[in-house]
Amino acid sequence: MMQQIKIFSPATVSNICCGFDVLGFAIDNFGDELFISKSNKDVVSIKKINGYSVPNDRKKNTASVAGQALLDYLEISQGFEIEINKNIKPGSGIGSSAASAVAAVYGINKLLDNPLKKEELLKFAMQGEFVSSKTAPADNVASALYGGIILVNNRENYKVVKLPAPKNLFAIVHHPLIEIKTSESRVVLPKSIKLGIASDQLGAVGGFIHSLHTQDFDLMRTSLKDYLVEKYRADYVPFFNEIKSLAKINNTICCSISGSGPSIFTLVNTNEEAQRLKLLFDRVYKSKNLEFNSYITSLNSKGVHVL
Ligand code: HSE
Repeated sequence: MMQQIKIFSPATVSNICCGFDVLGFAIDNFGDELFISKSNKDVVSIKKINGYSVPNDRKKNTASVAGQALLDYLEISQGFEIEINKNIKPGSGIGSSAASAVAAVYGINKLLDNPLKKEELLKFAMQGEFVSSKTAPADNVASALYGGIILVNNRENYKVVKLPAPKNLFAIVHHPLIEIKTSESRVVLPKSIKLGIASDQLGAVGGFIHSLHTQDFDLMRTSLKDYLVEKYRADYVPFFNEIKSLAKINNTICCSISGSGPSIFTLVNTNEEAQRLKLLFDRVYKSKNLEFNSYITSLNSKGVHVL
């Protein structure tokens, strides 16, 4: 039986514009790394945190809370210690808490010889996600667990559908290094919406999903619209309106806020276009002296995995 394991869990983009709380994708090659080892104690504890600062109290850290939820369910007294390379800044809008929570349950399940299937792990990762973001949607957690593009049903026991990701679909993600808490950015959202708006949004989600199956990028461009949340959050996200205007001039497939911000993502259908626009958008952040990271990722990347 393995005594220790090293896990990579990706950063994620949620909402994908038209699917507030239900759509998401994983970012390739950028995420948190967790070293998980068996310990003599009977709980999941945090040994060390490298990188960005997150709580090391085991009752407040998303990874230990998620891992403990799994152990409690399995009624196992074997304890685990976790060392976290926290590469994803909390409050980044790219699934920082979800990545660590998913890595913990995935790694601990592996060290226990896989008593649970992947789909059974999601609800335990959600307990970790909840302790940090205070919200119930599983869009980031499902994206990190499955990779690629996912659709999650938050009402029906977090049922996840893995959607086809066209090979020639690329995202450019810009992450300004400021923090926006998901819980706070949900306060600015309306409590109710008009029926007509809900209907428009339903049409958009359906169109987007069909476009993934048919690789119809025109339909995708028409469908990737948000009528629910973006306009309420846009002013809190640095340079969003500027980047979105540039994206529009350059005829991208879409440009929107990643999760609750401050990250922004843009979709295009060639890698060359992604490289060109990344440089163009980088210049905007540089000219404003705002520190940022930017990434290009395909949309059919791997989810959480063993390193
Ligand atoms: N979908 C959430 C939001 C963020 O936009 O508030 C991640 O769950």
